[in-house]
Amino acid sequence: MKAFVFTKYGSPEVLRLKKIAKPTPKANEVLVRIRATAINDYDWSMIRGKPYMYRLLFGLLKPKHQIPGMELAGTIEAVGANVKSFEPGDAVYGDISEYGFGSFAEYVCIDEKALVHKPPEMSFEEAAAISHAAMLAVQGLVDIGKIEKGMRVLINGAGGGMGTFGLQIAKLYNAEVTGVDTGNKLKMMKKLGFDHIVDYKKEDFTKKKEQYDLILDAKTTRPTYRYLKVLKPNGNYVSVGGYLNQIFLLIILKPLISLISTKSVHMVALKPNKDLDYINQLFAEGKIKPIIDGPYKLSEVPDVMHYFGEGKHEGKIIVSIA
Ligand SMILES: NC(=O)c1ccc[n+]([C@@H]2O[C@H](COP(=O)([O-])OP(=O)(O)OC[C@H]3O[C@@H](n4cnc5c(N)ncnc54)[C@H](OP(=O)(O)O)[C@@H]3O)[C@@H](O)[C@H]2O)c1
Repeated sequence: MKAFVFTKYGSPEVLRLKKIAKPTPKANEVLVRIRATAINDYDWSMIRGKPYMYRLLFGLLKPKHQIPGMELAGTIEAVGANVKSFEPGDAVYGDISEYGFGSFAEYVCIDEKALVHKPPEMSFEEAAAISHAAMLAVQGLVDIGKIEKGMRVLINGAGGGMGTFGLQIAKLYNAEVTGVDTGNKLKMMKKLGFDHIVDYKKEDFTKKKEQYDLILDAKTTRPTYRYLKVLKPNGNYVSVGGYLNQIFLLIILKPLISLISTKSVHMVALKPNKDLDYINQLFAEGKIKPIIDGPYKLSEVPDVMHYFGEGKHEGKIIVSIA
Protein backbone atom coordinates (compact mmCIF):
# COMPACT_ATOMS: atom_id res chain seq x y z
CA MET A 1 0.00 0.00 0.00
CA LYS A 2 1.03 3.66 -0.39
CA ALA A 3 1.56 5.79 2.73
CA PHE A 4 3.21 9.07 3.67
CA VAL A 5 6.03 8.17 6.07
CA PHE A 6 8.34 10.50 8.01
CA THR A 7 11.29 9.52 10.17
CA LYS A 8 12.53 12.97 11.28
CA TYR A 9 10.85 16.24 12.24
CA GLY A 10 10.88 19.12 9.76
CA SER A 11 8.92 20.97 7.09
CA PRO A 12 6.24 18.96 5.18
CA GLU A 13 8.95 17.82 2.69
CA VAL A 14 10.07 15.26 5.32
CA LEU A 15 6.96 13.30 4.26
CA ARG A 16 7.85 10.59 1.72
CA LEU A 17 5.23 8.69 -0.27
CA LYS A 18 6.36 5.05 0.09
CA LYS A 19 5.13 1.55 -0.73
CA ILE A 20 4.89 -0.41 2.52
CA ALA A 21 3.26 -3.67 3.61
CA LYS A 22 -0.49 -3.60 4.23
CA PRO A 23 -1.02 -4.06 8.01
CA THR A 24 -2.94 -6.97 9.61
CA PRO A 25 -5.52 -6.19 12.31
CA LYS A 26 -4.99 -7.35 15.93
CA ALA A 27 -7.92 -9.00 17.76
CA ASN A 28 -9.63 -5.71 18.67
CA GLU A 29 -8.75 -3.90 15.42
CA VAL A 30 -10.25 -3.40 11.99
CA LEU A 31 -8.39 -2.93 8.71
CA VAL A 32 -9.84 0.14 6.96
CA ARG A 33 -9.42 0.96 3.29
CA ILE A 34 -9.18 4.76 3.60
CA ARG A 35 -11.24 6.74 1.08
CA ALA A 36 -10.75 10.25 2.51
CA THR A 37 -8.73 11.96 5.22
CA ALA A 38 -8.33 15.53 6.56
CA ILE A 39 -5.46 17.84 7.52
CA ASN A 40 -5.44 18.89 11.17
CA ASP A 41 -3.45 21.02 13.55
CA TYR A 42 -2.14 17.79 15.17
CA ASP A 43 -0.56 16.73 11.84
CA TRP A 44 1.00 20.16 11.35
CA SER A 45 2.52 20.04 14.86
CA MET A 46 3.47 16.36 14.66
CA ILE A 47 5.40 16.67 11.39
CA ARG A 48 7.36 19.75 12.50
CA GLY A 49 7.77 18.58 16.12
CA LYS A 50 6.68 22.08 17.12
CA PRO A 51 5.72 23.51 19.53
CA TYR A 52 8.53 21.50 21.19
CA MET A 53 6.19 20.57 24.09
CA TYR A 54 4.36 18.27 21.67
CA ARG A 55 7.48 16.10 21.40
CA LEU A 56 6.58 14.73 24.85
CA LEU A 57 3.55 13.26 23.07
CA PHE A 58 4.93 12.53 19.60
CA GLY A 59 8.53 11.41 20.42
CA LEU A 60 11.40 13.42 21.94
CA LEU A 61 14.10 13.12 19.24
CA LYS A 62 12.23 11.48 16.38
CA PRO A 63 8.58 10.74 15.62
CA LYS A 64 6.97 7.76 17.40
CA HIS A 65 4.16 7.60 14.82
CA GLN A 66 5.73 7.48 11.36
CA ILE A 67 2.49 7.89 9.40
CA PRO A 68 0.55 11.04 10.36
CA GLY A 69 -3.20 11.61 9.87
CA MET A 70 -5.93 11.42 12.50
CA GLU A 71 -9.28 11.62 10.70
CA LEU A 72 -10.61 9.18 8.17
CA ALA A 73 -13.58 7.80 6.29
CA GLY A 74 -13.43 4.47 4.49
CA THR A 75 -14.62 0.89 4.32
CA ILE A 76 -13.78 -2.05 6.55
CA GLU A 77 -11.75 -4.65 4.70
CA ALA A 78 -11.01 -7.13 7.51
CA VAL A 79 -11.79 -7.46 11.23
CA GLY A 80 -9.85 -8.93 14.19
CA ALA A 81 -11.16 -11.95 16.13
CA ASN A 82 -12.80 -9.90 18.94
CA VAL A 83 -14.37 -7.12 16.85
CA LYS A 84 -18.11 -6.81 17.57
CA SER A 85 -19.37 -3.60 15.93
CA PHE A 86 -18.22 -3.97 12.32
CA GLU A 87 -17.91 -6.42 9.47
CA PRO A 88 -16.12 -6.28 6.11
CA GLY A 89 -17.83 -3.88 3.72
CA ASP A 90 -19.12 -1.47 6.41
CA ALA A 91 -18.55 2.22 5.69
CA VAL A 92 -17.01 3.98 8.72
CA TYR A 93 -15.50 7.26 9.86
CA GLY A 94 -13.92 8.82 12.92
CA ASP A 95 -11.18 10.71 14.72
CA ILE A 96 -8.64 7.95 15.44
CA SER A 97 -6.22 10.04 17.55
CA GLU A 98 -7.16 8.38 20.85
CA TYR A 99 -5.92 5.03 19.48
CA GLY A 100 -3.19 6.05 17.03
CA PHE A 101 -2.52 7.88 13.78
CA GLY A 102 -1.87 6.80 10.21
CA SER A 103 -4.63 8.09 7.92
CA PHE A 104 -2.24 9.59 5.30
CA ALA A 105 -2.24 6.12 3.72
CA GLU A 106 -4.35 3.72 1.68
CA TYR A 107 -5.02 1.42 4.67
CA VAL A 108 -4.80 1.58 8.46
CA CYS A 109 -5.44 -0.88 11.30
CA ILE A 110 -7.15 0.77 14.24
CA ASP A 111 -9.12 -0.19 17.37
CA GLU A 112 -12.80 -0.61 16.51
CA LYS A 113 -13.63 1.96 19.24
CA ALA A 114 -12.07 4.73 17.08
CA LEU A 115 -14.83 4.47 14.46
CA VAL A 116 -18.57 4.81 13.94
CA HIS A 117 -20.80 3.73 11.05
CA LYS A 118 -20.97 6.30 8.25
CA PRO A 119 -24.53 7.20 7.22
CA PRO A 120 -25.06 6.27 3.53
CA GLU A 121 -26.17 9.79 2.59
CA MET A 122 -22.84 11.26 3.83
CA SER A 123 -19.97 11.12 1.30
CA PHE A 124 -16.54 9.86 2.40
CA GLU A 125 -15.19 13.40 1.94
CA GLU A 126 -17.95 14.90 4.11
CA ALA A 127 -17.43 12.25 6.79
CA ALA A 128 -13.66 12.85 6.91
CA ALA A 129 -14.36 16.56 7.48
CA ILE A 130 -16.72 16.05 10.38
CA SER A 131 -15.36 13.97 13.22
CA HIS A 132 -12.70 16.21 14.81
CA ALA A 133 -13.83 19.77 14.13
CA ALA A 134 -17.54 19.14 14.73
CA MET A 135 -16.77 17.52 18.09
CA LEU A 136 -14.66 20.54 19.16
CA ALA A 137 -17.58 22.82 18.23
CA VAL A 138 -20.31 20.77 19.95
CA GLN A 139 -18.32 20.13 23.11
CA GLY A 140 -17.12 23.76 23.25
CA LEU A 141 -20.48 25.42 22.64
CA VAL A 142 -22.93 22.97 24.20
CA ASP A 143 -21.22 20.82 26.89
CA ILE A 144 -18.85 23.48 28.24
CA GLY A 145 -20.17 26.80 26.93
CA LYS A 146 -23.79 25.97 27.90
CA ILE A 147 -25.15 27.84 24.88
CA GLU A 148 -28.77 29.00 25.24
CA LYS A 149 -31.37 30.36 22.82
CA GLY A 150 -30.68 33.88 21.53
CA MET A 151 -27.22 34.28 23.08
CA ARG A 152 -24.61 36.62 21.58
CA VAL A 153 -21.75 34.33 20.58
CA LEU A 154 -18.31 35.17 19.16
CA ILE A 155 -16.16 32.56 17.41
CA ASN A 156 -12.48 33.42 17.06
CA GLY A 157 -10.70 31.60 14.22
CA ALA A 158 -14.14 31.21 12.67
CA GLY A 159 -13.18 30.35 9.07
CA GLY A 160 -11.46 27.04 9.83
CA GLY A 161 -12.85 23.59 10.62
CA MET A 162 -14.14 24.17 14.14
CA GLY A 163 -15.50 27.67 13.43
CA THR A 164 -17.59 26.70 10.40
CA PHE A 165 -19.26 23.91 12.40
CA GLY A 166 -19.53 26.25 15.41
CA LEU A 167 -21.64 28.72 13.43
CA GLN A 168 -24.03 25.98 12.29
CA ILE A 169 -24.42 24.60 15.85
CA ALA A 170 -24.89 28.11 17.32
CA LYS A 171 -27.60 28.86 14.73
CA LEU A 172 -29.61 25.86 16.01
CA TYR A 173 -29.95 27.99 19.18
CA ASN A 174 -30.88 31.13 17.21
CA ALA A 175 -27.70 32.75 18.49
CA GLU A 176 -26.41 36.05 17.06
CA VAL A 177 -22.96 35.02 15.92
CA THR A 178 -19.85 37.10 15.26
CA GLY A 179 -16.99 35.41 13.40
CA VAL A 180 -13.37 36.58 13.58
CA ASP A 181 -10.86 35.59 10.88
CA THR A 182 -9.19 37.13 7.84
CA GLY A 183 -8.56 36.99 4.06
CA ASN A 184 -10.75 35.14 1.55
CA LYS A 185 -12.44 33.25 4.36
CA LEU A 186 -14.47 36.33 5.29
CA LYS A 187 -16.55 36.03 2.09
CA MET A 188 -17.26 32.34 2.75
CA MET A 189 -18.19 33.16 6.38
CA LYS A 190 -20.71 35.81 5.27
CA LYS A 191 -22.29 33.28 2.88
CA LEU A 192 -22.40 30.63 5.62
CA GLY A 193 -24.49 32.93 7.82
CA PHE A 194 -22.31 34.75 10.37
CA ASP A 195 -24.28 37.84 11.49
CA HIS A 196 -21.15 39.96 12.02
CA ILE A 197 -17.64 39.52 10.74
CA VAL A 198 -14.41 40.94 12.16
CA ASP A 199 -11.14 40.89 10.23
CA TYR A 200 -8.55 40.29 12.95
CA LYS A 201 -5.85 41.94 10.84
CA LYS A 202 -7.83 45.20 10.86
CA GLU A 203 -9.71 45.19 14.19
CA ASP A 204 -9.22 43.73 17.66
CA PHE A 205 -12.56 42.50 19.01
CA THR A 206 -11.25 42.68 22.57
CA LYS A 207 -10.81 46.46 22.15
CA LYS A 208 -14.38 47.07 20.95
CA LYS A 209 -17.46 47.84 23.05
CA GLU A 210 -19.54 44.77 22.10
CA GLN A 211 -19.89 42.10 24.76
CA TYR A 212 -20.78 38.43 24.37
CA ASP A 213 -22.48 35.69 26.39
CA LEU A 214 -20.14 33.08 24.96
CA ILE A 215 -16.76 33.19 23.20
CA LEU A 216 -15.41 30.06 21.48
CA ASP A 217 -11.75 30.41 20.54
CA ALA A 218 -9.69 28.23 18.17
CA LYS A 219 -6.60 30.42 18.51
CA THR A 220 -6.28 31.83 22.11
CA THR A 221 -3.75 34.47 21.12
CA ARG A 222 -4.36 36.89 23.99
CA PRO A 223 -3.98 36.97 27.79
CA THR A 224 -7.16 35.88 29.65
CA TYR A 225 -8.05 39.35 31.03
CA ARG A 226 -8.56 40.66 27.46
CA TYR A 227 -11.34 38.12 26.84
CA LEU A 228 -12.96 38.78 30.24
CA LYS A 229 -13.40 42.45 29.24
CA VAL A 230 -15.70 41.53 26.35
CA LEU A 231 -17.73 38.91 28.22
CA LYS A 232 -21.13 39.85 29.63
CA PRO A 233 -21.80 39.09 33.34
CA ASN A 234 -22.25 35.27 33.68
CA GLY A 235 -20.53 34.89 30.30
CA ASN A 236 -18.30 31.96 29.35
CA TYR A 237 -15.01 32.01 27.46
CA VAL A 238 -14.12 28.59 25.98
CA SER A 239 -10.72 27.90 24.42
CA VAL A 240 -10.37 24.88 22.16
CA GLY A 241 -6.70 25.46 21.39
CA GLY A 242 -4.05 27.96 20.35
CA TYR A 243 -0.97 29.49 21.97
CA LEU A 244 0.23 27.25 24.78
CA ASN A 245 1.48 30.14 27.00
CA GLN A 246 -1.98 31.80 26.93
CA ILE A 247 -3.70 28.46 27.54
CA PHE A 248 -1.49 27.79 30.61
CA LEU A 249 -2.32 31.26 31.93
CA LEU A 250 -6.02 30.55 31.45
CA ILE A 251 -5.80 27.21 33.30
CA ILE A 252 -3.90 28.80 36.20
CA LEU A 253 -6.31 31.77 36.50
CA LYS A 254 -9.53 29.74 36.06
CA PRO A 255 -10.15 28.99 39.80
CA LEU A 256 -9.37 32.59 40.82
CA ILE A 257 -11.69 34.04 38.14
CA SER A 258 -14.58 31.84 39.28
CA LEU A 259 -14.03 33.10 42.89
CA ILE A 260 -14.04 36.82 42.13
CA SER A 261 -16.27 37.08 39.05
CA THR A 262 -19.54 35.80 37.59
CA LYS A 263 -17.66 35.21 34.31
CA SER A 264 -15.80 31.98 33.70
CA VAL A 265 -13.06 30.61 31.46
CA HIS A 266 -12.70 27.02 30.24
CA MET A 267 -10.54 24.75 28.11
CA VAL A 268 -12.03 21.94 26.00
CA ALA A 269 -10.51 18.50 26.67
CA LEU A 270 -11.80 16.85 23.52
CA LYS A 271 -13.64 13.54 23.84
CA PRO A 272 -13.14 12.16 20.30
CA ASN A 273 -16.26 10.96 18.44
CA LYS A 274 -18.50 11.38 21.55
CA ASP A 275 -21.36 13.21 19.82
CA LEU A 276 -21.17 11.79 16.30
CA ASP A 277 -24.68 10.25 16.62
CA TYR A 278 -26.04 13.77 17.24
CA ILE A 279 -24.07 15.12 14.25
CA ASN A 280 -25.28 12.25 12.03
CA GLN A 281 -28.86 13.15 12.96
CA LEU A 282 -28.28 16.87 12.19
CA PHE A 283 -26.66 15.91 8.89
CA ALA A 284 -29.62 13.70 7.92
CA GLU A 285 -32.01 16.59 8.74
CA GLY A 286 -29.95 18.92 6.51
CA LYS A 287 -29.04 21.13 9.49
CA ILE A 288 -25.29 20.74 9.24
CA LYS A 289 -22.87 20.55 6.32
CA PRO A 290 -19.08 20.55 6.36
CA ILE A 291 -17.24 23.27 4.43
CA ILE A 292 -14.70 21.39 2.33
CA ASP A 293 -11.49 22.81 0.89
CA GLY A 294 -10.53 20.33 -1.85
CA PRO A 295 -10.66 17.39 -2.19
CA TYR A 296 -6.95 17.06 -2.97
CA LYS A 297 -5.01 13.93 -4.03
CA LEU A 298 -2.93 11.82 -1.62
CA SER A 299 0.24 12.81 -3.51
CA GLU A 300 -0.55 16.48 -2.74
CA VAL A 301 -0.36 16.05 1.06
CA PRO A 302 3.00 17.90 1.55
CA ASP A 303 1.70 20.87 -0.51
CA VAL A 304 -1.60 21.06 1.32
CA MET A 305 0.24 20.81 4.66
CA HIS A 306 2.04 24.04 3.68
CA TYR A 307 -1.29 25.57 2.64
CA PHE A 308 -2.75 24.59 6.06
CA GLY A 309 0.25 26.13 7.83
CA GLU A 310 -0.31 29.40 5.95
CA GLY A 311 -3.92 29.38 7.26
CA LYS A 312 -5.36 30.06 3.80
CA HIS A 313 -7.81 27.13 3.82
CA GLU A 314 -11.58 27.50 4.17
CA GLY A 315 -13.25 24.99 6.51
CA LYS A 316 -11.58 21.55 6.36
CA ILE A 317 -8.84 20.49 3.92
CA ILE A 318 -9.85 17.08 2.56
CA VAL A 319 -7.71 14.52 0.75
CA SER A 320 -9.43 11.82 -1.36
CA ILE A 321 -7.69 8.47 -1.62
CA ALA A 322 -8.65 6.67 -4.79
N1 LIG B 1 -8.92 21.04 23.15
C1 LIG B 1 -8.59 19.89 22.59
O1 LIG B 1 -8.72 18.81 23.19
C2 LIG B 1 -8.05 19.92 21.20
C3 LIG B 1 -7.75 18.74 20.52
C4 LIG B 1 -7.26 18.83 19.24
C5 LIG B 1 -7.06 20.08 18.63
N2 LIG B 1 -7.35 21.20 19.32
C6 LIG B 1 -7.15 22.58 18.78
O2 LIG B 1 -8.37 23.02 18.24
C7 LIG B 1 -8.11 24.00 17.24
C8 LIG B 1 -8.80 23.52 15.96
O3 LIG B 1 -9.27 24.55 15.24
P1 LIG B 1 -9.59 24.41 13.71
O4 LIG B 1 -9.57 22.97 13.29
O5 LIG B 1 -10.78 25.20 13.45
O6 LIG B 1 -8.27 25.12 13.09
P2 LIG B 1 -8.10 25.80 11.69
O7 LIG B 1 -8.90 25.11 10.65
O8 LIG B 1 -6.61 25.98 11.51
O9 LIG B 1 -8.80 27.24 11.90
C9 LIG B 1 -8.24 28.27 12.66
C10 LIG B 1 -8.56 29.60 11.99
O10 LIG B 1 -8.11 30.66 12.83
C11 LIG B 1 -7.55 31.68 12.01
N3 LIG B 1 -6.64 32.52 12.79
C12 LIG B 1 -5.30 32.51 12.87
N4 LIG B 1 -4.85 33.45 13.73
C13 LIG B 1 -5.93 34.09 14.20
C14 LIG B 1 -6.13 35.18 15.08
N5 LIG B 1 -5.10 35.79 15.68
N6 LIG B 1 -7.38 35.58 15.32
C15 LIG B 1 -8.44 34.98 14.74
N7 LIG B 1 -8.32 33.94 13.89
C16 LIG B 1 -7.10 33.50 13.61
C17 LIG B 1 -6.84 30.88 10.92
O11 LIG B 1 -6.63 31.70 9.79
P3 LIG B 1 -5.21 32.38 9.36
O12 LIG B 1 -4.12 31.48 9.82
O13 LIG B 1 -5.33 32.59 7.86
O14 LIG B 1 -5.15 33.70 9.99
C18 LIG B 1 -7.86 29.77 10.64
O15 LIG B 1 -8.81 30.18 9.69
C19 LIG B 1 -6.60 24.06 17.07
O16 LIG B 1 -6.10 25.15 17.81
C20 LIG B 1 -6.15 22.73 17.67
O17 LIG B 1 -4.84 22.78 18.17
C21 LIG B 1 -7.85 21.14 20.57
